[in-house]
Amino acid sequence: MQGGHYFLLLLVGSLVSFSIACSTEHANQTTFDVGDYGAVSGGHIDDSEAFLKAWNAACTSETENPTLIVPPKRFLLNPIVFSGPCRAKNINFLILGRLLAPDSPGAWKGLDPSQWLAFKGVSGLNIAGPGRINGRGKAWWDQSCRDHPRLVGCSTLAPTAVKLVSCKNSSISDIHFVNSSQTNLLIRECDGINIENVLIEAPERSPNTDGIHISASHNVVITNAIIGTGDDCVSIGDHTSNIVISYVKCGPGHGISIGSLGRSGNFVQVENIHVSKVNLQGTTNGARIKTWQVGRGYVRRVSFEQIFFRSVKNPIIIDQNYCNKSGACK
Ligand SMILES: *[C@@H]1O[C@H](CO)[C@@H](O)[C@H](O)[C@H]1NC(C)=O
Ligand SMILES: *[C@@H]1O[C@H](CO)[C@@H](O)[C@H](O)[C@H]1NC(C)=O
Ligand SMILES: *[C@@H]1O[C@H](CO)[C@@H](O)[C@H](O)[C@H]1NC(C)=O
Ligand SMILES: *[C@@H]1O[C@H](CO)[C@@H](O)[C@H](O)[C@H]1NC(C)=O
Repeated sequence: MQGGHYFLLLLVGSLVSFSIACSTEHANQTTFDVGDYGAVSGGHIDDSEAFLKAWNAACTSETENPTLIVPPKRFLLNPIVFSGPCRAKNINFLILGRLLAPDSPGAWKGLDPSQWLAFKGVSGLNIAGPGRINGRGKAWWDQSCRDHPRLVGCSTLAPTAVKLVSCKNSSISDIHFVNSSQTNLLIRECDGINIENVLIEAPERSPNTDGIHISASHNVVITNAIIGTGDDCVSIGDHTSNIVISYVKCGPGHGISIGSLGRSGNFVQVENIHVSKVNLQGTTNGARIKTWQVGRGYVRRVSFEQIFFRSVKNPIIIDQNYCNKSGACK
């Protein structure tokens, strides 16, 4: 495969995985269409209750390979947590349509502002497209402390669009993420995750809209991704190992970053990080490793290979004296 074929791969990948999803259905495989659980399309009425009902039915189903289906329409979802473990070894979350976040931070009143769609404790979860997840983050960006430090009641924390926490052997493919309020896709405390054929977009000036953030996780593969956001295209946090990233087009954004690590003086272990065949264009950084001066531990066995830079401010940057505010750290 060569550098210029990302778009083609993305398209071919979508078609192939879609036809596989259709043709391998067993006669007794049960599908759970959110429409059958009361979801009304249109994107104006909150459908989170209906989605939870469909999820609970699929998750407790005794069939081998249950599939929750989001039909090709628009659905508005308030913040929601899909919890596991599920009964089946694998569970599919097939998004054919569009998921819309509430357009105002008010919908998070009394709820955890760090997340919108969260999957917790689920193994064998396959989130597949070709659907779109729209975080509609503008109202959050407009009240971010980073961009509006003098605004009374500004937010330092805004919802991550999709969060996978405590998961095993899962995948995310053929999904188009748009305008998350903060991080688009976050993987935490997971083992065995495949992310492929994703397109992630947010404006260059949107605050902290990382593409994919991985922390405390092992055995993660990211391939065939196109990411253009206001922060890191991919960022790798404390306690991660065996991460393989290839065929990624990044820009605008802050590049592919390991860190920032060891923020509160904690002991970090990061190893076996391999990044290759990445195309960076119009980014602030390229290949980056950043650690806090108070941090302890190690970052080892890291490789960045076949990286193409165009209009990148700091193509390679290793900063062992990272500080979030200039002059504020020893
Ligand atoms: C149901 O699915 C299982 C596993 O795929 C298969 O072994 C079994 O033959 C199927 N039963 C019917 C009636 O199709
Ligand atoms: C995850 O996959 C590995 C390798 O295929 C398998 O050995 C393991 O049992 C799986 N774990 C779960 C929780 O499904
Ligand atoms: C994303 O947000 C920007 C800025 O608010 C807006 O111009 C753009 O249309 C949005 N994209 C989508 C797909 O909603
Ligand atoms: C910088 O990080 C330190 C240590 O985590 C934190 O206490 C401080 O509030 C941060 N300052 C800013 C401006 O984010």
